[in-house]
This record gives sequence, structure tokens and C-alpha cells, in this order.
Amino acid sequence: MIRFLTPATSTPLKANLVLLPGDGIGPEIVAQAQRVLEVISERYGHQFEFSSHMIGGIAIDTCGDPLPQETIDACRGSDAILLGAVGGPKWDDPSAKTRPEVGLLKIRKELGLFANLRPIRLFDELLDASPLRREIIEGTDILFLRELTGGIYFGESGKTGSGDTESAYQSMVYSVGEVERIVRLAAKAAKGRDNRLTSVDKANVLEPSRLWRRVAARVMAEEFPDVEYDVVLVDAMAMHLINRPGDFDVVVTGNMFGDILTDEASMLPGSLGMLPSASLGNGGPGLYEPIHGSAPDIAGKGVANPLGTILASAMLLRHSLELEAEADAVEVAVQRVLSDGLRTHDIARGGDAIGTEAMGSSVVERLRI
Ligand code: IPM
Ligand code: MG
Repeated sequence: MIRFLTPATSTPLKANLVLLPGDGIGPEIVAQAQRVLEVISERYGHQFEFSSHMIGGIAIDTCGDPLPQETIDACRGSDAILLGAVGGPKWDDPSAKTRPEVGLLKIRKELGLFANLRPIRLFDELLDASPLRREIIEGTDILFLRELTGGIYFGESGKTGSGDTESAYQSMVYSVGEVERIVRLAAKAAKGRDNRLTSVDKANVLEPSRLWRRVAARVMAEEFPDVEYDVVLVDAMAMHLINRPGDFDVVVTGNMFGDILTDEASMLPGSLGMLPSASLGNGGPGLYEPIHGSAPDIAGKGVANPLGTILASAMLLRHSLELEAEADAVEVAVQRVLSDGLRTHDIARGGDAIGTEAMGSSVVERLRI
């Protein structure tokens, strides 16, 4: 018999959750996050229904399409989506007809998920797992808002010529509306935090960055005059992130800069394996995933860190289902696991490590106390 010490406070909820395990370690880590969501629904009296669908390499192998229509339909009809990872060497041939990553980009676009929230939060227990010195990273708490459905990722692309004269191009395009909506969201997020927003661009070189900077400045001046606002060039930002990460609160940037800077920032807390993300649009289901990739080198070995995905499920509870207490419970359980000294190999720094399933069980146990 399970004994619950903390009473359930929220109204019971029915939710239809889509799981997109994907490739590599995806299925292993999503399975652990599902266990966590199941224990939450049991403990708080909710009814979560899960259905699993294909995306990425596995979908290419099964039906030749990295994002089958059936998956899109299931996602559209859901309350929220939890994704593992896509891709792997098997599908890396540059001349292949399609790629697993196409599935991920397409689902973001299909669902209008223009805002990618990537919180960079430190766990005190892991301060020494970071490659950076404690005194540099202490106090870091950054929320990145990466624009996710525009910019160079979705610009016109193609190839011309052949042999020695072959060339390839991909254009970076941003419209006023695309910049306005992500900057607004970022400014609102800043108001709920330390009230500071930094916009990152490459306005000294790129035309779309100059538009970005102009529109962002106008939105901030007209709509958020009380939010402290500054702009930083992306190359300088790459440097500041490892030099003075504690100085930033909310950071808003375009699709590709956000992709690169958040991988860099993920090293501040010590492991890419710890970081969740949420992709949100205007209404409709949100998509939640760890920010790491499919880690094909360790896939199937049962050693992957499921905590990034488990923390992504906490973001799902908070942002899509508005279950704040449940989200907090998951985050506290993760914190407890770490303070009890449990580590997967990526954060063990040579010490004792436990596997993916044992880590999932440890979180589940702490949710049951
Ligand atoms: C990410 C990933 C993806 C991206 C890839 C897998 C398409 O790196 O979510 O950060 O570039 O957006
Ligand atoms: Mg990335």
C-alpha cells in the first residue's frame, strides 16, 4: 500500500498525453518520464492517458517518413507531447532522401511552437560536476527563449551548379510579427523573474538581425518600459556565458543562435543530460523534451540520464496542464535524488553511477513518500 503524506490539492484532471520516444536513448528516457507522470496521476488523482507514436529515424525505417501523418494527428488531438530525441549515424548519409531531424522541425512548425523555453538552472549538488569553476557558475539562473519556427532553419534553401562550381545556400528570414511575439513572451517571462531581458543577435553583420534588434527595441520601449533591457552580439554572448553567466536573467534569441548558445549554456550545470525544454505556441499542445540528442553511442545500454526528460515532464505539468504543485513535486524529487548522492555516469565525475531505470525508480520512490 502506498502512503501519501502530501495531500492532493488540485482538481482531478483528464489528460491525453502523446509520447514520441524517437531514436537512440529516446525510448529509454521517455519510459522513465512516463513512470514519473503515472505516479503523479495516481498520487493526485488525475487520469493521464498515454499513446506512443513514431518520429525521426524509426519512422523513416517503418514508413519512409520522419513525421507520419498519424503522428501529426495524434499530437494535434493531445493535451501535451513528450519527446525523447531523434537522429543517429544510421540516418546521417548526406545524400539520403530525408532525415530524422526533418520530423522534429516539421512537428514544431505544424503545431506553431514558436517559443522554445530552455531554463539553465544549477543544482547545488552538481556544482562540482561543471567543467567551470564553482565561483564562476554559482548564482547562474538563466531562462533562454529560442525562436523555434523561423530564421535560417526554415529559410529557402537549395543547391546550384555541380562539381567544382557546386554551391549550396540557406537564407535567414525574420518578419516583424515573428520577432514581436517571441520578444513579448520573453519580456513577460522576465517580469515573473528578475525583470531583466537580454536580446542576442548579429546586427553588425546580418540584415535579419538588424530587423530583430529594431523590432525588439520598439516592443520593449512601448510595452515593457519597466523591464531592464539590453542587447548583446552572439559572439560576445558565447564568451560572456562562460565568463559571467550569473549576470543574465532571460535571454531571447533567434533559432540558430539559440540552438548553439543553449548547448554551450548546458555545460554550466554540468551535463546536457539534466536540461529540459518546452516548446510552446499560441494555444494548442506544447511539446516537451530534454535538450540533449539521441546519444547513439550509449543507446540501449541503460546508462542514459533520464533526469532531463523527467524535468521536461515537470515543465509539461506546469505549462500545459497548469499543475503547479505536481510540477514542483517532480522537481523536488529530482533534487532529493541528487542530494542523496545518486548519479548517472554523465554526472558522476568518475564516482559510483546508477543506470537509467534505477534513476527513474529513485525519482518515483521519492514521489511516493
Ligand atoms: C535541438 C536540436 C535540434 C535543433 C535538431 C535535432 C534538429 O539540436 O533541439 O536543439 O537543431 O533544433
Ligand atoms: Mg540543439
